[in-house]
Amino acid sequence: MGIDIKISPSQDAIGKHAAKRIKQLLELKPDAVIGMATGSTPEPMYAELVRMHKEEGLDFSRATFFNLDEYAGLRPDHPESYHAYMQTHLYDHINADPAKIHILDGKAKRLGNEVLTFEAKIKAAGGIDLQILGIGTNGHIGFCEPGTSFNSRTHVVKLAQSTRQDNARFFGGKVSKTPEYALTMGIQTIMDAKRIILLANGEGKAAAIRSAAQGPVSPNTPASILQEHDNVTFMLDPAAAQSLDRSVTRGTRRP
Ligand code: F6R
Repeated sequence: MGIDIKISPSQDAIGKHAAKRIKQLLELKPDAVIGMATGSTPEPMYAELVRMHKEEGLDFSRATFFNLDEYAGLRPDHPESYHAYMQTHLYDHINADPAKIHILDGKAKRLGNEVLTFEAKIKAAGGIDLQILGIGTNGHIGFCEPGTSFNSRTHVVKLAQSTRQDNARFFGGKVSKTPEYALTMGIQTIMDAKRIILLANGEGKAAAIRSAAQGPVSPNTPASILQEHDNVTFMLDPAAAQSLDRSVTRGTRRP
């Protein structure tokens, strides 16, 4: 129990460090099951994984991948879909087996079936060994917005207005063009992962990080439930860590 906090000097350094953890896992367990996140934060992590594949021969062929979430209503080939994001940032450049890449289909005819099938696939794969997370400015993880039940499993969600505002930058700056609904792993789905690494950088995330790591465990800050997981690391830059009590950050290892 308790969150392990690691502070790195920059977003790039966080990415390199997180990629190293994925590499260590794959070396130990080549058929590991890894949960991936999208958004701006993990971009340097993906760049480093691609470099490790090209320059160091890191092998992804036996691993299985699940993504946290996807916008409802976007086709997989929509440039802002999380399918497209993962192809562009990672899968186009490594040797992952396409049959082992699982991303929720935001255009599935029956979204209700899609979320159940996704859960079943995670179970059939033996559960997630390592889940990578980002965090929303409102404390969301995946697209589990404030108020989401801690018992939730993969489900369809109406995005919070603040999330649509945060993500409007990917849709021409227009909230009206930003999807209203999404599919996301649930909080219990995330908590079932054997190990969790949450990445955050920038002062815009400082309040959410403080609530997640040191606030009360409450659905108002979905990430606060991570305090109850027994293997979770927050990898932060100094700006994202700036509101944490010194008692938490003092003595943290700086990778
Ligand atoms: C993305 C996801 C979200 C993001 C969060 C932060 O798959 O699950 O929870 O991690 O919204 O996004 P960025 O990194 O763009 O600030």
